[in-house]
Amino acid sequence: MGKGLFISKAVAVTCVVAAISAVATIIGLAVVYAKEKTKNEVTPPTTPSPTSPTSPTTPSPPKEPWQRYRLPDSLVPVSYEVKLWPWLEPNADGMYIFKGNSTVVFKCVKETDLIIIHSNKLNLTSFEGHQAALGCLNGATVPSLKKSWLEIPTQYLVVQLNSPLIAGSTYTLFTEFVGELADDLGGFYRSEYKEDGVIKVVATTQMQPTDARKAFPCFDEPAMKAVFYITLIHPHGTVALSNAMNYNPVNITLDGHNLIQTRFEPTEIMSTYLLAFVVCDFTFTTNTTNPHADVLIRIWARRKAIEEGQGNYALEKTGPILTFFENYYKSPYPLNKSDQIALPDFSAGAMENWGLITYRETALLYNPGVSSNGDKEWVATVISHELAHMWFGNLVTTRWWNDLWLNEGFATYVSYLGANYAEPTWNMKDLIVLNEIIGVMTVDALASSHPLSSKEEDILKPEDISALFDSITYSKGAAVLRMLSEFITEAVFSKGLQTYLEEFKYKNTVYTDLWRHLQMAVDEAGIKLQHSVETIMNRWILQMGFPVVTINTKTGRITQNHFLLDPDSVVDTPSVYNYEWFVPITWIKTGGVEQQYWLFNKEATNTNMTLGANDWLVANLDMKGFYRVNYDSENWDRLLTKLSSKHQDIPVINRAQIIDDAFNLARAKMVDTTLALRTTKFLNKEVEYMPWETASRNLNYFFLMFDRSEVYGPMQAYLKKQVTPLFNYFKELTVNWTKIPEKHTDQYNQVNAISKACSTGVEGCEELTTGWFREWMNNPAKNNISANLKYTVYCSAIAAGGVDEWDFAWSMYKNATIASEADKLMSALSCTKQPWLLNRYLEYCLDPKKIRKQDATSTIVSIARNSIGQPLAWDFVRAKWDHLFNDYGGASMSFGGLINGVTQRFSSEFEYKQLLQFKEDNAGQLGSAAPSLEQALERTEANMKWVAMNKDQVLQWFQSEASSPV
Ligand SMILES: *[C@@H]1O[C@H](CO)[C@@H](O)[C@H](O)[C@H]1NC(C)=O
Ligand SMILES: *[C@@H]1O[C@H](CO)[C@@H](O)[C@H](O)[C@H]1NC(C)=O
Ligand SMILES: *[C@@H]1O[C@H](CO)[C@@H](O)[C@H](O)[C@H]1NC(C)=O
Ligand SMILES: *[C@@H]1O[C@H](CO)[C@@H](O)[C@H](O)[C@H]1NC(C)=O
Ligand SMILES: [Zn+2]
Repeated sequence: MGKGLFISKAVAVTCVVAAISAVATIIGLAVVYAKEKTKNEVTPPTTPSPTSPTSPTTPSPPKEPWQRYRLPDSLVPVSYEVKLWPWLEPNADGMYIFKGNSTVVFKCVKETDLIIIHSNKLNLTSFEGHQAALGCLNGATVPSLKKSWLEIPTQYLVVQLNSPLIAGSTYTLFTEFVGELADDLGGFYRSEYKEDGVIKVVATTQMQPTDARKAFPCFDEPAMKAVFYITLIHPHGTVALSNAMNYNPVNITLDGHNLIQTRFEPTEIMSTYLLAFVVCDFTFTTNTTNPHADVLIRIWARRKAIEEGQGNYALEKTGPILTFFENYYKSPYPLNKSDQIALPDFSAGAMENWGLITYRETALLYNPGVSSNGDKEWVATVISHELAHMWFGNLVTTRWWNDLWLNEGFATYVSYLGANYAEPTWNMKDLIVLNEIIGVMTVDALASSHPLSSKEEDILKPEDISALFDSITYSKGAAVLRMLSEFITEAVFSKGLQTYLEEFKYKNTVYTDLWRHLQMAVDEAGIKLQHSVETIMNRWILQMGFPVVTINTKTGRITQNHFLLDPDSVVDTPSVYNYEWFVPITWIKTGGVEQQYWLFNKEATNTNMTLGANDWLVANLDMKGFYRVNYDSENWDRLLTKLSSKHQDIPVINRAQIIDDAFNLARAKMVDTTLALRTTKFLNKEVEYMPWETASRNLNYFFLMFDRSEVYGPMQAYLKKQVTPLFNYFKELTVNWTKIPEKHTDQYNQVNAISKACSTGVEGCEELTTGWFREWMNNPAKNNISANLKYTVYCSAIAAGGVDEWDFAWSMYKNATIASEADKLMSALSCTKQPWLLNRYLEYCLDPKKIRKQDATSTIVSIARNSIGQPLAWDFVRAKWDHLFNDYGGASMSFGGLINGVTQRFSSEFEYKQLLQFKEDNAGQLGSAAPSLEQALERTEANMKWVAMNKDQVLQWFQSEASSPV
């Protein structure tokens, strides 16, 4: 699945705005972590028995085969003939349904008198008292049916026979069924949208991981690959799509309805979770001159969206990205067509169905002039991620879900390579560090993290499988594969992939199969590694976390330790590797060339790493390795001196790394907080995005803790001093703000420059944003504000303005027809500094005619992000808890986020007591918010400690820096 299941784009954007700081993350801002935590908490305590570790999900092994979550190994599918007829209008009972039938041809490989096949929420027709009919191919005798039933907990249709099926024979099983075409985003489901005032219905699918069984009975495991012959029956005026290319549709009459029947070419041999069926009245755009003459490339979406050209960008980039992967894998695109479709309702970011990739609209459609460059980058990387899966994941599939990290980590890593090929000027290969790696390091530095790789027998139930779709799987998976590709070189990595894909196409693998092929490529290239690929990688995938490498440049002593963000946390899961890693250390010294060293032990000495009197050393070049670095204080001082004198001598990613490492090491009490703050001093000369973005994410925590205290003034003054040169730089670069910067990362950093400059009162900034906003107010039909800057300009103008600005933005929000534009306005409305406007906005949140229910909690949270809104939002939540709980408690995820969001700043005894009081007053009335309330208490305590320990020195530091000459 595309990234974005575990962190939706909406949340991702808010995170950037809220700027998760390393420190704040503890704290479990990550939804993922919250999920993990609850998962651990509900683990049934098995009978304590220290000698026999039992799997947490199987307290006692079930006796009957149908009580087990894994299919028996007696039957394997060969092919399916599936006919499906989704109704796009409700039936007589007012329900949306689909009807269908399916014949599965399967081979018996071990004699058995039991047929177990997945089926979930389907109403099966009875034939002579049984829910399926058995047949055979090539004249084998067909046993008669003894008993059949649905086994609900394990989602099976079970058929018991009077005599056994014979090993080596092939049989058929026919089922006929009716299912609900619900709006539940899983299996065969319904999506709705409005076009020209008419409500339109789309029937579409999301099978991964375990919902193909909700569309038709099937052996629903990734290793149960088969060929699928699909037929869709659909109303006139609609088009039907599936994984394979369609034959010509024909008119039919069924139950008195005039309909179209569309049959599809047989699919390649594939897994059920990659199937897709869509019926809609969408249209498409295609490219007659695409570089892939042999592959039909189409982008599908709502008619309006295609007519407006919103699919053009995706179309333009798909061909080049396919070309890139064909070269990278040295393997032609496996299918004859590539359809990509944007759906109005879709739970993940995108889904790599083979030949028919489904997307959220925001992940496929791009609207020049309205969408920002960040929106564009999202489209390019998600497309690249999904296309990477067409080979890695689809052509070759891991055997079971426990290896999901390999599938998703790989696609996430190479999505940056594909996007880099499609957009060579964007620095995508650098941005992976900011977008994936440093973020997941804060999650993986918690004692409650988990290893990348799970045991097959520990992942059984659908909910165990779903829980694997988290940031560790995607982002840490990407980080360690990038590290591997870097130390064996990209050419060798790609060579190993080629032979891996060649050996296993149309088949299944386990992750060690990939290690074997990479090892072969390493050996062939004559690369000398002291240990095998597998031995090195085991330490990164079989134990959680990562090391902090401490380098003493006086002695050359190098040590590694498990890096924990909270030094007091207790790791209670033992690791056979003792939380030690095989670490590829790269470094440069004063102007020298890159050097390499492998740290295979807890400690070692490398005299190459000692320094002369005025030398400096920076390790983990371009953050290719998944670890943090600490140095002796002399080298820290020299690095900081270097940054202040000529920061360009240190590679840009390492400038960001130095900041991020220092802030995280400070959090872990390994260096002083003032050292971390000192890493931001060179920013007054820095114009690059990555260091600025990293600093601003890390400083955000300081703002949350101190923006209501006496630290605020000096902190603002310091930041103003730092950002003023950046603001002036962009003013010049953009010729007095009339041009869009050419460089992608400059476009991002221009946003940082304006938002920081305006919020710290840099001269000219507020006039600028309010001026632009005024222009728009004077002519509402013409919004000239540059798309990249919209949110920042709205926010800053609304913050500086009063009721007129607010009311204008509100009316534009109500009038917006593009979702991303509405979202930007909705967030910006919470930037006002007028308490009465904030209170009124809070009241709007409980009026679904004003703020849609789905947006209510996120709006309250964005009001709380404003330091003036924070106490108002907390009062509001407490006063309206009953109402919120009863009317909005349903959407569980966002509800936990509410408590989390309104208590971000809590750091005093008084606030802690208020939280306790709240917990007491609402005992039994917290629902899914209960875990986040516990987290809020824990976080408030941690914040109190942190503030007590750091406030004085932070205040002093900002005071002296703010008053010192530039
Ligand atoms: C399966 O369903 C299709 C469409 O509803 C129908 O035309 C066909 O006759 C059915 N097949 C059987 C064997 O019932
Ligand atoms: C199928 O039916 C549609 C609508 O009734 C009609 O316009 C079309 O000509 C028919 N096609 C064929 C091949 O009969
Ligand atoms: C820059 O823009 C401001 C505001 O739009 C304007 O007042 C000023 O004259 C411009 N300066 C130059 C050099 O174009
Ligand atoms: C809202 O949109 C409609 C149609 O696009 C337009 O006619 C109207 O002027 C807009 N209202 C405002 C306040 O801009
Ligand atoms: Zn994916």
